[in-house]
Amino acid sequence: MKVDLLKLPPGEALEVIAKNVAKCRRCSLSAGRTHSVPGEGSAQAEVVFIGEAPGFNEDQRGVPFCGRAGRLLDQALENISWKRQSVFITNVVKCRPPNNRDPLPEEIVACQPFLNWQIKIIKPLMIVTLGRFSMAKFLPHVKISQVHGQVYPLRWQGLRLVVVPLYHPAAALRSGRLRQVFLDEFAKLPGYLNLAKKGFWFSEEEKEMVEEAGASQQLKLI
Ligand code: URA
Repeated sequence: MKVDLLKLPPGEALEVIAKNVAKCRRCSLSAGRTHSVPGEGSAQAEVVFIGEAPGFNEDQRGVPFCGRAGRLLDQALENISWKRQSVFITNVVKCRPPNNRDPLPEEIVACQPFLNWQIKIIKPLMIVTLGRFSMAKFLPHVKISQVHGQVYPLRWQGLRLVVVPLYHPAAALRSGRLRQVFLDEFAKLPGYLNLAKKGFWFSEEEKEMVEEAGASQQLKLI
């Protein structure tokens, strides 16, 4: 990408990324795609949801989480009164793997710059990983069965992020117990977001920086 994405308004920068995803040939998944699925939602989102890879429906429409797993995600969002358009929803890999197989390490690496740019542009407070592939991006040495629903404040490429790993909605659809765990943990996200906004997980020094950043954003709005 030749333009300086961070100098563009965030919405435009996300469009530039989507256009680059659409013409990407960095891995062999591009050969089998109907549509690429760059992700969608608000460029000002406080929360970014990251799944694994597009499935059949997503590939047909170019929209993330628009099949069965997406309906569970929509229900979970509705339960907490969050609008799909107010968050950002994307995947680790932006093209559908054949027969919905797991994305390969080289495909994840090839697609990584797009996701990294999306996060750097949106600068969310919270990232909710859906399933083990997106979790591994931030928490490489853990098992989802041991950490799901927990809160991980961390630094990532100069950003302070609160990462919450959740089960993938497709896994939740395969088991009544996991479905309830998924919905119960999802219901805690608004509380975590409020704490993140208050800088709960930050040191005093970092809190001041967050407050200053908030003040300068407010000034820009006046
Ligand atoms: N599963 C995912 O991980 N992502 C989608 O977009 C759809 C299903």
